[in-house]
Amino acid sequence: MKKVLLVFGTRPEAIKMCPLVKRFQNYPDDFETMVCVTGQHRQMLDQVLSVFDVKPDYDLNIMQQGQDLYDVTSRVLVGMRDVIQQTSPDVVLVHGDTTTSFAAALAAFYQHVAVGHVEAGLRTYNTYSPWPEELNRQLTGRITTYHFSPTPLSEQNLRSEHVQGEIIVTGNTVIDALHMVVDRLHTDNQLTAQVANNLLQAGYDLNRLSDGRRMVLITGHRRENFGEGFINMLSAIKDLSEQFLGVDFVYPMHLNPNVRRPISELFGIDTAIDSSVQAIGNLFFINPLEYLEFVMMMERSTLVLTDSGGIQEEAPGLGKPVLVMRDTTERPEAVESGTVKLVGTNRELIVRETSRLLTDAAYYDQMHRAVNPYGDGHACERIVQMLLGA
Ligand code: UD1
Ligand code: UDP
Repeated sequence: MKKVLLVFGTRPEAIKMCPLVKRFQNYPDDFETMVCVTGQHRQMLDQVLSVFDVKPDYDLNIMQQGQDLYDVTSRVLVGMRDVIQQTSPDVVLVHGDTTTSFAAALAAFYQHVAVGHVEAGLRTYNTYSPWPEELNRQLTGRITTYHFSPTPLSEQNLRSEHVQGEIIVTGNTVIDALHMVVDRLHTDNQLTAQVANNLLQAGYDLNRLSDGRRMVLITGHRRENFGEGFINMLSAIKDLSEQFLGVDFVYPMHLNPNVRRPISELFGIDTAIDSSVQAIGNLFFINPLEYLEFVMMMERSTLVLTDSGGIQEEAPGLGKPVLVMRDTTERPEAVESGTVKLVGTNRELIVRETSRLLTDAAYYDQMHRAVNPYGDGHACERIVQMLLGA
C-alpha cells in the first residue's frame, strides 16, 4: 500500500487535482490517499472542493488578505513540514506552477520524500512572464521524481533540460475535470436549470442570449499584468462594450484586491467582495463563479478574453476562440492549432482582434473549431497507473 499525499491550494490547482483525488480513491487496496490543502486561496478553493465533493485531511488555512509571495512561500513551507512529518507519505503530488506547488515540493524534498509533478514541463523560458509561475515550475521540475507532462511538447522541454526522474505524457487533468462537468451538465436537466438559476443569482441572466445577443466572457488576474497592463485591458473592455451594444461583456472578478481596485477606480463601481453585482449597461462585473457555472458560461459565450492558464486549455475543447491578454504563453499547442491567439495587454490590439472576431464570420469560423491538444479525459488514470507500477 502506497501513501500518496496530494497538495494544492488555489482554484485552478483544485480543479485539476480533484479528479485525481477521486481516481486514487478508486484504488483503496493500493493507495492510502491523503489530501492537504494549503488554503492559499480560501473562498475560491472551497468553491471547487464542494463541486467535486473532496474533503481535505489537512488544511493549512494560510490565506491572508493581500498576501505577498514571501507570506505564501514561508507559510506553506513551514506548514508542510509538519504535515509531511505526521503522514510520512511515499510520494507528495503537487500541481503546476503556483507558490503552493513549489513550496510544497521543497518541503517534501527536505524530508527526502519523492515528488510527483502534475502538469510538468510547461515553459516560456522567461522567468518574469508569467511571474512567478515560470520559476515555480522550473524549480519544481528540479525537485521532481515523477513528471506527468500534459503534452509531448512539455515532455520535450523536460528532456532537453535533462531533468532527473521519469517523464510520462498523460494529457492534462483539466480535460478530465471538464469532461466530468460537461457530462453532468449535458445529461441532467435539473442540474442545468439549477446552474442557470445560480448564474442569475450571481448577476447574469442567460435568457438575455435567446434573442441573438452574444456574450464575451472575460477573466484577468496575472501578477505581471498589474498596473499599466491591467488598465489597458480594462480600457479595451470599456471600448468594446461601448462599440458593441448587442454583445454582453461578463467579467467574473478574481478576489485579489489588485484585480478589483483598478476595476473600481476605472468604472466607478463598488467591487468590495460583499458588494452586489455591478452592471453598467452591457458590461457585468460579477463574483467568481463556481466551476459548473463557469463552464456553462464558457459554453454559451462567443469568445473568451483572458490571461488565465487553465482557460486556454478548456475553451478550445469547447470550440471557443480565446484571445490571451499576455505576451507569452506556456501553452502554444492551441495557438498552433489556431483557436488561441496572443494579444498582449495592448489596448488597441485587444479591441481590434475582438472586433474582428465579432464582425468577421469567416475569421470567427477559422478559430471556432473544437480542438483539444490537452488530453482525452484519461490523464488521471495514467498518473495512477504510473504510480501503481513505480
Ligand atoms: C494565484 C497563483 C497564480 C494562479 C492564481 C489562480 C501564485 C504566486 N499565484 O494567484 O499562479 O494563476 O492563483 O487564480 O501562486 N483572495 C481571496 N480569496 C480567494 C483567493 C484570493 O480573498 O479565495 C485574495 C486575497 O486577498 C489574497 C489575494 O487574493 O491575498 C491573492 O491571492 P494569491 O493566491 O496570493 O494570488 P493570485 O493572484 O490568486
Ligand atoms: N474558473 C472558475 N470560475 C471563475 C473563473 C474561472 O471556475 O469565475 C475556472 C476556469 O474554468 C479554470 C480555472 O478556474 O479551470 C482557471 O483559474 P485561474 O484563471 O484563476 O488560474 P490559472 O489557470 O490562470 O492559474
